[in-house]
Amino acid sequence: MYADICKVLGIKYPIIQGAMAWISDADLVAAVSNAGGLGVLATGHLDGEGCRQEIRRLKEMTDKPYAVNVMLLSPFVEQIVEVICEEKVPIVTTGAGSPGKYMKKFKEAGVKVIPVVPSVAMAKMMVKDGVDALIAEGTESGGHVGKTTTMALVPQVVDAVDVPVIAAGGIADGRGIAAAYMLGASGVQIGTRFLVAKECNVHPNYKAKIIKAKDIDTTTTGNSTGHPVRVIKNKMARAYEALEKKNASAEELEELGRGALKKAVVDGDVDNGSVMSGQIAGLVKKEQTCKEIIEEMYGEFIQIMKNTAELYSK
Ligand SMILES: Cc1cc2nc3c(=O)[nH]c(=O)nc-3n(C[C@H](O)[C@H](O)[C@H](O)COP(=O)(O)O)c2cc1C
Repeated sequence: MYADICKVLGIKYPIIQGAMAWISDADLVAAVSNAGGLGVLATGHLDGEGCRQEIRRLKEMTDKPYAVNVMLLSPFVEQIVEVICEEKVPIVTTGAGSPGKYMKKFKEAGVKVIPVVPSVAMAKMMVKDGVDALIAEGTESGGHVGKTTTMALVPQVVDAVDVPVIAAGGIADGRGIAAAYMLGASGVQIGTRFLVAKECNVHPNYKAKIIKAKDIDTTTTGNSTGHPVRVIKNKMARAYEALEKKNASAEELEELGRGALKKAVVDGDVDNGSVMSGQIAGLVKKEQTCKEIIEEMYGEFIQIMKNTAELYSK
């Protein structure tokens, strides 16, 4: 189903900044929402009270719509759901599973629910639970990923459900947004390009790694665990892959992975830390404000749509 996602979410541009654990804090979210997109606060690394503080800090910085991301595997998921309802958060995105168990609570609190899905089967299941829209995320994305590409996944999800679908994975400019619309999407979610936003507090070494990355510089680790994660190839990724090749136990892999994202994001150790990034990093070349990123991408998108319509309506 095609929908005007800007109307549905109360935003100016159909551009959502994807949640990024340890990274999309109140500063980044406020900057995106104030620029007319939808900022999404990450909570994967927070407990309930940490989440409440960050939501309150965010509310001081924006009166525009925003979302909070719930990582359903978080040990603090119950507390976080409670805080979201108490703080009257308008929109929730969810990752790593089905939010079915919490749907009644969210609906009673007036929260719109938009889960991230990697497959048609998951999309159908979520729609049965009564979600408001879906984010179909392809394997090109940074962070935890499924197996299907954005190009193949988005039209199949669009055909399978009757809620608006937002495309994610491999989108970093107006061409990507136009492509997503051609596949039937009603909006886009973008992570990697926002990593280099001026308002993004990720360590400068992390930003430099994204800006330097080429098209073939990412890989997925964790394939043997069933939870693949897309990262920039570095010492850490090679060590992880070597362990997986040796059929290391889940405990050994967990030991190596523990705290790895924080190491890169906070300490700036981009050799021994996990530098999560999408395949599109090769297209991301400079640091800009969120406003510049959003307006540039949207301007390109509109121009492409006009040019294409002109070219093919003759
Ligand atoms: C560093 C990083 C951390 C991420 N953390 C989360 C997260 O905590 N929750 C989530 O639902 N998605 C997470 N994602 C996925 C993004 O929200 C988004 O869907 C994805 O980055 C889109 O693909 P792109 O990187 O090609 O733009 C993360 C992505 C990155 C790059």
